[in-house]
Amino acid sequence: MTVVTRALRVATFLSLGLAAAAVAQSEASQGAGAADDPAVPAVNPTPYTEAAEKRGRTHYLRHCQICHGFDGRALENIDFEATDLTDPERWRFGTTDGDLFRSTKFGAGLDMPPFEAELDDAEIWELVHYLRSLGPEEHRAAAEPENRP
Ligand code: HEC
Repeated sequence: MTVVTRALRVATFLSLGLAAAAVAQSEASQGAGAADDPAVPAVNPTPYTEAAEKRGRTHYLRHCQICHGFDGRALENIDFEATDLTDPERWRFGTTDGDLFRSTKFGAGLDMPPFEAELDDAEIWELVHYLRSLGPEEHRAAAEPENRP
């Protein structure tokens, strides 16, 4: 076997492993925690505008920053292990708009409280636009939904 063939085989093996890990991760993120409501669309039905994102920021500052921190990194609060909302790689309950909506509306894991009593659906979708502004560039609300992770 030439060195090139061997390298190719190793590369194929590695990418298969990554694909399997991705499937396992998405399966884990479906069942656990946030209630599954099939009626929740995967893509934010509220069109992105700066105004919508700003309203989302207001909801965030009022309801979320106490645990997730002013910048979303959640490092200040040691009582709860709140998720770093700037890092989609670490999210356990999915990264689509619909996943963020569900985690916010119905809660996630053990310590993320549900907000269905405090926020109506329209407000939560505005929040989703703001949450996306906290993360990496390609994750921004303004990015095309199909190009987002
Ligand atoms: C009382 C503290 C607290 C408040 C307030 C709070 N969160 Fe959380 N949140 C958490 C904790 C803790 C987790 C981690 C849950 C887990 O992984 O088990 C979490 C997880 C999440 C997740 C899921 C991340 C993932 O892993 O997929 C999202 C999204 C989220 N929070 C958004 C929000 C939003 C939006 C608000 C405001 C409306 C908010 N949170 C308010 C504590 C809080």
